[in-house]
Amino acid sequence: MTNWQLVVGSVALGGATYLTLQRALSRPENHAPGPAGWPLVGNTFQVPQTKIWRYFEKLGYEHGPIFRLSLAGDEILVLNDPADAEELLHRRSSNYSSRKSLVYAGHYQSQNKRLVLLPYGTELKNQRAAFYQMLQPRVIGSYERMQELESTKLLFDMLTRPLEVDMNAKRYAASLVFTLSYGKRLADDDEDLKAVIDILDKFIQGCYPGAHLVDTFPFLDKILPDFLAPWRAEARQKHENEMKARFLVARLVLEVKQKVDDGRTDLECFAARLWEQQEKFNLDLVTLSYIAGSAFEAGTGATGGTILWFIMAMIMFPDALKRAQDEVDSVVGTDGETIPTFEHLDRLPYCVALTKETFRWMPATPGGFPHYSDHDDEYKGLKIKANTMVIPCIWSMQHNPDRFPNPLTFDPERFLANGDMTSSGSSLFTEGHYGLGFGRRICPGRYLGSTSAWIGITRLIWAFNIGPALDDAGKPIPVDPEKCTSGITSQVFLPL
Ligand code: HEM
Repeated sequence: MTNWQLVVGSVALGGATYLTLQRALSRPENHAPGPAGWPLVGNTFQVPQTKIWRYFEKLGYEHGPIFRLSLAGDEILVLNDPADAEELLHRRSSNYSSRKSLVYAGHYQSQNKRLVLLPYGTELKNQRAAFYQMLQPRVIGSYERMQELESTKLLFDMLTRPLEVDMNAKRYAASLVFTLSYGKRLADDDEDLKAVIDILDKFIQGCYPGAHLVDTFPFLDKILPDFLAPWRAEARQKHENEMKARFLVARLVLEVKQKVDDGRTDLECFAARLWEQQEKFNLDLVTLSYIAGSAFEAGTGATGGTILWFIMAMIMFPDALKRAQDEVDSVVGTDGETIPTFEHLDRLPYCVALTKETFRWMPATPGGFPHYSDHDDEYKGLKIKANTMVIPCIWSMQHNPDRFPNPLTFDPERFLANGDMTSSGSSLFTEGHYGLGFGRRICPGRYLGSTSAWIGITRLIWAFNIGPALDDAGKPIPVDPEKCTSGITSQVFLPL
């Protein structure tokens, strides 16, 4: 251990002792139930590193739908019941719409500009307003041609590069949002895409609880000089790299600005709209780059991940694929001349239900995004302290057998039967499941993401028979939905 690590470790231990004692002394009597923790570290070492949502589900059965955990100084409240999430995160959203401030990824790496990490306040409101302009239901229809074009490319990629299913799905999602953000398509070589995925992965890793000591003990940042706080230089360097990297670069948004200044009126992209409204939303170059980049980062993993979970579902539940193919054939015919488009949406209810069931069965963000409370509150007789991380566990909500019988079975029929298909227009895909979040932090890309998933899925159903890969002896290689990543987005591993 180096000297600075020893010093930082001692300071952290002292700080943790202080924090724990302070919290123990001030702990409200009626706090939510939860597993007993250890002195100083609370439940830190009981929480598994993988598939935290399964742990939340188990604790729900033991302690009830609302329970608390303490992670080395962080107070956490987990909500397994959507009614509680609706009440706290939606109806009481003035108190539960912040995010815990992350010193490393938020303050230094993102210069407090990355939407997904922003605390509640003016910056967040401005950025969400800008997002809303681009992604609200009224304008979303104008992206249908672009979604159809990119989903045709998805079919081409699957046909010509069948062993690269994972990259094909990510490319589809990334290219959609790239076009939306910058008004031009992602270059056709994988280098761009890999660079983007690399930045995304690193950023997400940096947000994990425990990834950086300073986020567990933020006071370290206030008291330590630079030579004992190596995270500052490291995270600032990452910020510099992000500003140079392909998708966040000032270069991309500056290119768009040049076109706007040249009087191009045909530019239908996020960056162009942002430049036009630079003053209204008080946007400098860094902010503008981060907003356009946020769409890109947040939209790629979840949409691509949903397509991959769909493929896994079709391998495991071939009857659902057959039924969907029959529906598509009955609408567009079997001669291969007509490809499904958004114009067929109303006549393909099973494909809509199948898309919703994909969001439910294996949600792309199963653990949910933590919201953060600003003030003390009381709910159902329980005291919820200010600065509590409130986590709506999407997995538990969507796998409650009372609401969704046989929850691990992929069954689109449940959406056709339970009346969740009655909404029309924009909420058709967003109702009846919880995979898009809650309250004032609900996913701003939900209409684009869900319709992109639908057209991609429906066209894959139209174009392909989907089955397991075969080994050298011609035997099917079994798939296992338990083999997935455990990050903020959960991605499945498909053996090929
Ligand atoms: C089907 C695909 C998608 C899924 C399943 C999904 C899911 C989610 C979820 C669960 C959240 C957290 C909400 C909360 O905190 O309560 C979120 C946030 C977010 N999503 Fe999506 N998303 C998808 C597509 C997209 C797309 C296409 C975009 C952009 C074009 C996008 C942009 C964002 C942003 C910027 C946030 C952060 C919002 C904030 O912190 O205020 N998402 N998404």
